[in-house]
This record gives sequence, structure tokens and C-alpha cells, in this order.
Amino acid sequence: MLDAITLLRTTVESDIAAIDSLEAVEAFRLKHLVRKGTIAGLMDRLREVPKEQKREVGLALNELRTLAETAESQARERFSSDAKKAAGPDITMPGRRLATGHEHPLMRAKARIEEIFRGMGFSVAQGPEVEDDFHNFGALNFAPEHPARDMQDTFFVKAGDRDDVLLRTHTSSVQIRLMQSTQPPIRAIMPGRVYRNEAVTARSLAEFYQVEGLYVDKGVTMAQLKGTILEFARAYYSADVKTRFRPSYFPFTEPSGEMDITCFLCEGKGCRICKYSGWLEIGGCGMVHPNVLSNCGIDPEVYSGFAFGFGIERTLMLKTGIDDIRLLFDNDVRVLEQF
Ligand code: PHE
Repeated sequence: MLDAITLLRTTVESDIAAIDSLEAVEAFRLKHLVRKGTIAGLMDRLREVPKEQKREVGLALNELRTLAETAESQARERFSSDAKKAAGPDITMPGRRLATGHEHPLMRAKARIEEIFRGMGFSVAQGPEVEDDFHNFGALNFAPEHPARDMQDTFFVKAGDRDDVLLRTHTSSVQIRLMQSTQPPIRAIMPGRVYRNEAVTARSLAEFYQVEGLYVDKGVTMAQLKGTILEFARAYYSADVKTRFRPSYFPFTEPSGEMDITCFLCEGKGCRICKYSGWLEIGGCGMVHPNVLSNCGIDPEVYSGFAFGFGIERTLMLKTGIDDIRLLFDNDVRVLEQF
């Protein structure tokens, strides 16, 4: 029996020396280490060994088994890490995408609107967001106690002992500054942030973006106003959109109107977006009130002008179908990624 063990040990040792791959490791295991392998075969024959030799034979067998097991696990480890190293980096693995970000959809809409009006010969004007009563209301023909001031709930700003400082409620204040500092012809749009003390809902925010437009020259007519709005709507929304004007009231324009466009979703047939009217409201407009011109030092007997204004968020919502204005300010990438 001891001779048989010594013989097997020689075989095991030369088998170990010959292992040169993971497959060879597995072959070695199947030959020597499984239940039906060589070592277990000898273990089975332990029963035949006379009592007084059992201890010695048992020890020799255990030693052989440990030798084979250790060699097997060491070889397995060596060849599997060799295999990984030899394979090198897996160049078929998809790369990690870097999130680069992009312009906010609202800023894109603003840029697009500016682009369209620039194409029609308008320049882009800016003014302060903290204004005074004169530029935001007074010069725009809001009489001191006139209820029209309530149309726009105003945030007032503490500024020393002045009580006429406020956050502008519309960019019409920029029209005033422009007319005060320039003689006609004036043709400009005023995009910018405006503030109103309104409850935040799906349709309104206390802080939003507006674009207003102003054209003052000799002989400016309402037909030009309508043509300008139509051109804008065609460029911004879609080539076959139609416009509609309804009478309205603003202190700074006379006559005043609300501008509607045909609902591009249902093309005027009526749907959920346009509340089954076929029309979508986009903003206010009108012919500049003579008082406003003279408040700014422009002679209303010589010059006339038109003005219009709309909310940028609203144009974007109409265009994209986003139905909650708050989504534009939450900065949730799941929304922003869609643009
Ligand atoms: N300033 C008006 C508003 O914010 C919009 C408007 C601009 C209306 C120009 C008519 C003419 O509500």
C-alpha cells in the first residue's frame, strides 16, 4: 500500500509540473481530486490495510491529498489571473459617457426670439430690473390712483426713504428708457426678467421672462403691428399658423389688443391644449398711447408707434406642450435632457 502511495505521489508531482493552463488544472482535478479520482481510490483501500499500518498509511495519504489540493488551487489562481492579464483591457466595453450639459431651453427660446426679431431689423435693448414707479408705471400712462396698477401685483423695494422703488413688472420700463434717450426711428425688443407678486401655480410664477417690442417712427400703423406679429409667429411656431387680434385694454396703448394664434396641435379644430377654442393667447399689443410718447419727449403729432409683449415661458410651453411652468425652473435633468 505504501508503495502504491509513493507511486501515485510521483505521478501527482509530475502532473503538477506539467500543468500549463486553466484547462490542465481542471483535468488534474478530475484525475486526482474528485470522488472517483486516484487519491479517493486509495482512501477506499484503507480498509484492507492491517491495523498496525493504518496510521502510517493514513498519514501518507492525507499528506498526498493536501499536496494535490494546494497545488491545484495555486495553479488555478495563477492561470486565471494570467488569462485576465493576457486579455488586456476589454476594448469592446462601452465607454463612460460624460454629461456635458447644454443651454437651458428657456434661454434657447429667448435666443431664438431675438434671432427672429433681429432678422426683421429690431435691435435688442436691456434695462434695470430694479426700477422706479415712473419708468414702470407713471410714464406708461398709469394715473397715480388708477386701478390698472392692480393688473400687475408689484413687489416694492425698501430703498432709504424712497417709496417708489420696485421690481419691474414688465419690460415696458425699458421702452421708456429707450424713448427718453433716443429719437425715432426706434425699433427694438426688450427681453428680460420681470417680477409679479403672484402665487406660484402650474400657470404662473412670481418671476418670469418677457419679451416686449417697440417700433416708433413716422407713419407706423396697426397693419405693420399685425404683420410683424404674424411674421414672428410663422417663424417661431409654424409656417401655417394664423393670428387673431381681440380688443383689450392697457393704459399705455390705444387701441390695445390681445394676440392669439391658431392652436398648432389641433390646427384650429379644438383640443385640450386650446381648451376647445382653436386659439391660443400669446400676448398683448397696441399702438403706443400719445401720452406715453410725449412723456418721453417724442412728439405724438409727428410720430406713432406700436408695442407688444409676451411671456417667454408661455411661448415655450405652447411650443413644447410642457404644461407646468414650474418644470422650467426646477432644473430636473430628466426634463432638461429632452431639449
Ligand atoms: N406690458 C404688458 C404686460 O406686461 C404687455 C404689453 C406690452 C401690452 C406692450 C401691450 C403692449 O402685460
